Amino acid sequence: MRKNFGSKPMLYPMPVLIIGSYDKNGTPDAMNAAWGGISEENEISICVSEDHKTTKNILVSGAFTVSIADKENLVAADYVGIVSGNNEPEKIKKAGWTAVKSELVNAPLFEELPMALECRLKSYDEDSCRLVGEIVNVCADERILTDGKIDLAKFSPITYDPVNHNYLTLGNTVGKAFSDGKKLK
Ligand SMILES: Cc1cc2nc3c(=O)[nH]c(=O)nc-3n(C[C@H](O)[C@H](O)[C@H](O)COP(=O)(O)O)c2cc1C
Repeated sequence: MRKNFGSKPMLYPMPVLIIGSYDKNGTPDAMNAAWGGISEENEISICVSEDHKTTKNILVSGAFTVSIADKENLVAADYVGIVSGNNEPEKIKKAGWTAVKSELVNAPLFEELPMALECRLKSYDEDSCRLVGEIVNVCADERILTDGKIDLAKFSPITYDPVNHNYLTLGNTVGKAFSDGKKLK
């Protein structure tokens, strides 16, 4: 027996994406987004409501960053998801983050968030709320690298549980992709 939950945005795991943007005066903003993911080799798609300050910013600046929220930044990551830059001009300061302009796109990186995608706006459709960005670059702070690769022993991305409204860290490595399935070939 299965229980039906109906038509709902439920998925596991869901990301905790922090979208960084500048307004027309160069003031940085950030928001939390769970409804997003990779949609092409070098493309990310995220469902972002039209009324967010982030959306207005990106339509003007033509760019955004997507940082991956981690355990260390959990409180600030949730804060930027419940307070709007439309009402709080000091949002980034209150989050405790340090905005630094990306060298590649007109959008802020946040020093405290060690991994980010730097994106150029491809399209935004206000009916579907779908924001599509070209991934120009992915960057990661050296503090989370081992032998030049992102090391999840040094970086703890969090995931959003849409049923219980919790944040969780990722678990242990339990298998090898593109490999373990070969056992059944
Ligand atoms: C866990 C979580 C997930 C969220 N996911 C989304 C999302 O996928 N799309 C969206 O438009 N808003 C989402 N929000 C809401 C925005 O982050 C929130 O409205 C934010 O204040 C917008 O900020 P801004 O107006 O400064 O851009 C989410 C909030 C939380 C806490």
